[in-house]
Amino acid sequence: AAAKLWGGRFSEPTDAFVERFTASVGFDQRLYHHDIRGSIAHARMLAKVGVLTSEEEHQIIEGLEAVHADIEAGRFEWSVSLEDVHMNIEAALTERIGVTGKKLHTGRSRNDQIATDIRLYLRDEIDAIAAELGRLQSGLIELAEREADTIMPGFTHLQSAQPVTFGHHMLAWNEMLQRDHERLLDCRKRVNRLPLGAAALAGTSYPIDRYYTAELLGFDGPTANSLDSVSDRDFAIEFSSFAALLLTHLSRFSEELVLWTSAQFSFVDLPDRFCTGSSIMPQKKNPDVPELVRGKTGRVNGHLMSLLTLMKGQPLAYNKDNQEDKEPLFDTVDTVKGCLRAYADMMPALTVKRENTRAAARRGFATATDLADYLVRQGLAFRDAHEVVGQAVAYADRDGRDLEDLELAELQQFSATIREDVYEVLTLEGSVSARAHVGGTAPVRVREAAREAAQRLNSG
Ligand code: ARG
Repeated sequence: AAAKLWGGRFSEPTDAFVERFTASVGFDQRLYHHDIRGSIAHARMLAKVGVLTSEEEHQIIEGLEAVHADIEAGRFEWSVSLEDVHMNIEAALTERIGVTGKKLHTGRSRNDQIATDIRLYLRDEIDAIAAELGRLQSGLIELAEREADTIMPGFTHLQSAQPVTFGHHMLAWNEMLQRDHERLLDCRKRVNRLPLGAAALAGTSYPIDRYYTAELLGFDGPTANSLDSVSDRDFAIEFSSFAALLLTHLSRFSEELVLWTSAQFSFVDLPDRFCTGSSIMPQKKNPDVPELVRGKTGRVNGHLMSLLTLMKGQPLAYNKDNQEDKEPLFDTVDTVKGCLRAYADMMPALTVKRENTRAAARRGFATATDLADYLVRQGLAFRDAHEVVGQAVAYADRDGRDLEDLELAELQQFSATIREDVYEVLTLEGSVSARAHVGGTAPVRVREAAREAAQRLNSG
């Protein structure tokens, strides 16, 4: 086993099991790029304030770059006895450049180092996730334009309620994602602060320049309090709650897609490449991608709970508990990226079976509210109109007909004021076009809302 970088005060080696139990290198090695980036900035800052000579600075930077290249090339051997990504890299640096390598950690602790690494890592991932989320949103907005005239049943209680347009439904999904997008970018602001300089917890006696380090690393500025800097993981929890809500939305979309692709609904078709078959039933084409996304929501919600629970009992400042933040965070990032990628690829390839959605909208008296509104325009109070239409629905339902199948004379039994023009409001097209106000389902409004949504997305 390699000698411990902190071994000075110890009189016996670490227990072999404890060494494995406390090590994080198995999972935190994924931070190597950001760890090295942070170390290079730290070395440059130390040189700027005169703690390192420029000769030492250059030696350290070249050494770190060489270590980086070794890792990228798969030539690096991670050692569990060196515990974590930080000490593995520092030991490799010293092995490569000698005693100067031992100066890198001046004025720094792994406590502020890890907090910096995660923030750098998460910032990059947030940017990648925002781009992927934007790609999915663009796909939904285009689909909404394409299907602006497509009629489908709108549901409440999963029962046919009123006709809507398919495009309107897609824009409802987009609204959920737009809020997620805004939450993500808001969370990024609090991720983008530099904790380095807090050292172990109390700051450091060296004349460090935290603004300079922040600038080198693209942070908006340094964090304000050293104790908070090394103990704060709020930003990870915020990201995680963004993720839980995003996955909740994707899970709801998935539930609808699973229903819509079933033979019973048959509203949409997913391309074969997003589905799988059954090993026993030859006819099956299963919507695995939406189902899996719906299932993965469980682990993302679980990670949010893990992180909240991880933090709830911790006194200031750094505690080793915090090492447990990484696996939930990493898995959340991976899961979010996977689900977004699948959805962004899948949605533009969706086929809408327009005849089926239209036929489904015709069933279930979806224009009953329109008839009531018609009667109101003729002078009835809405409650009375509601009662009259209820009777008409019951009458039509007795012999399996829809409201628009009733003869004018039949309709007039319920209200003598009904005229021939009633059939305009009883049609599906009449029903959706009448709802052209802001937020409504009319095709003209959907086209306009889609344009606005695209603008908002591109200006965000
Ligand atoms: N592996 C640790 C973590 O993930 C790095 C910081 C360790 N600091 C310490 N004093 N043990 O949080």
